[in-house]
Amino acid sequence: MTLSKHIINWYIKHKRDLPWRHTNNPYFIWLSEIILQQTRVEQGMPYYLKFTNKYKTVKQLALAKDDDVMKMWQGLGYYNRAANMLNTARIIMKEHKGVFPKTYENLLKLKGIGPYTAAAISSFAFNEAQAVVDGNVYRVLSRIFCIDEPINSSVGKKIFAQLAQEILDDKLPALHNQALMELGAMVCKPRSPICGECPVRLECMAFAKKTISNYPVKIKKNKPQDRFVNYFFIEQKNKTFIAQRTENAIWKGLYELPNFESEKTIESEKIINQKKFISLFGNMEELNVEKIFFEKHQLTHQTIYANFFKLTSPQKIKPLPDGFIQVRLIELKKYAVSRLFDKFLNYLNLHSNL
Ligand code: ADE
Repeated sequence: MTLSKHIINWYIKHKRDLPWRHTNNPYFIWLSEIILQQTRVEQGMPYYLKFTNKYKTVKQLALAKDDDVMKMWQGLGYYNRAANMLNTARIIMKEHKGVFPKTYENLLKLKGIGPYTAAAISSFAFNEAQAVVDGNVYRVLSRIFCIDEPINSSVGKKIFAQLAQEILDDKLPALHNQALMELGAMVCKPRSPICGECPVRLECMAFAKKTISNYPVKIKKNKPQDRFVNYFFIEQKNKTFIAQRTENAIWKGLYELPNFESEKTIESEKIINQKKFISLFGNMEELNVEKIFFEKHQLTHQTIYANFFKLTSPQKIKPLPDGFIQVRLIELKKYAVSRLFDKFLNYLNLHSNL
C-alpha cells in the first residue's frame, strides 16, 4: 500500500467532523482556509460559523461594509486577512462575474491567495491534483523522510513542495490533503506525537531512528522585538477620539486611540514634554495627565508595552489631526479594535459607568 493509502484509510476512520469538510463550495472552503491560517480549529470554528451564517455567498460578502467585516473578524488577529478577503470577494464579483476561479493557476492570481490556499481550494472544491503544504504537512514529511533542510528556508520550501506533490494521490487529492493535515494535527503533533497510533510509523525514518523530536528543522528567527506605545484617552462629555489605522501592519483597519511610540516607558510627568505629544495635542496649559492602565501585550514577533494615559483639561483639547473621529464612549464597542484595545475597554467598563 502507498503512504497515501495508509494515511487516507486512517483518516476515514479517525477524522474530526468539521463543518468545512461537508462542502465543496469554493467560497466556504476559501473562508475556512483563510480563518485557519495562524488560528487553531477550536478558535476558528465560531468565526467560520458566524461568517457563513451572515454572508452566505461571495456576493453577500462583497456587498458587506468594511467595518462590519472587521468587527466580525475581531479577536482573530492578522487583520489584513479580512481586508484581503473582502477585496478579493469584490474582485470576484466585478471581474469574474461572481464565479469563483476554478484552477490553481487562476486562484493564485487573487490577492491574499497564496500557494497554500490555492492548493486547498482547487483540491477540496474542484479535485485538482495540487498538494497542500501547511505547517502540519511540513512536520509530517520532515519526520517520515528525515529531511534536515529547514522548512523556512527557500531551498527547504522547494524540497517540501516537490515531495508533497510526489506523494499526492492524483485520483483522490482532496482526501489525501485533508488526511495528511489531519495526521499532523492529531497524531504527528509538534511536541508529543502519538507514534503508537500512527498509520505510517513503519514507513517513518525518524521513528526508526528515534529522532522524531529533531524534526522539523527551522532557522531560528530573531527574538520578539520590544515596543513601547503610549495611548491617550481623552474623555470629554462622554466622548473620546479614535482613528482607524491605515499603516500596513498587523492592526491595519482597526480603530485605536491617539498614540505614539517611544524608545522606553515614559511616566506621566514627562509625557507632555515629548515632541510627539506636542505635535498631537499642542502646548496645553492646564492639562492633567494620569496613567490609568498598563498592559504587556504579547504578539508573535513583538512585545508591546502599552501605557494608557487619561487626559483632562478645563480647556477644550485641540482638534486632533485628520482621521480622528469623536465617538460616544458607549458606542466604542461597535468598532473593530485590537485585543489590546479591548482589554482597555474592559478596564473602562470596570472603572466607569459606561
Ligand atoms: N487547518 C487548515 N486547514 C484545515 C482544514 N481544512 N481542516 C482542519 N484543519 C485545517
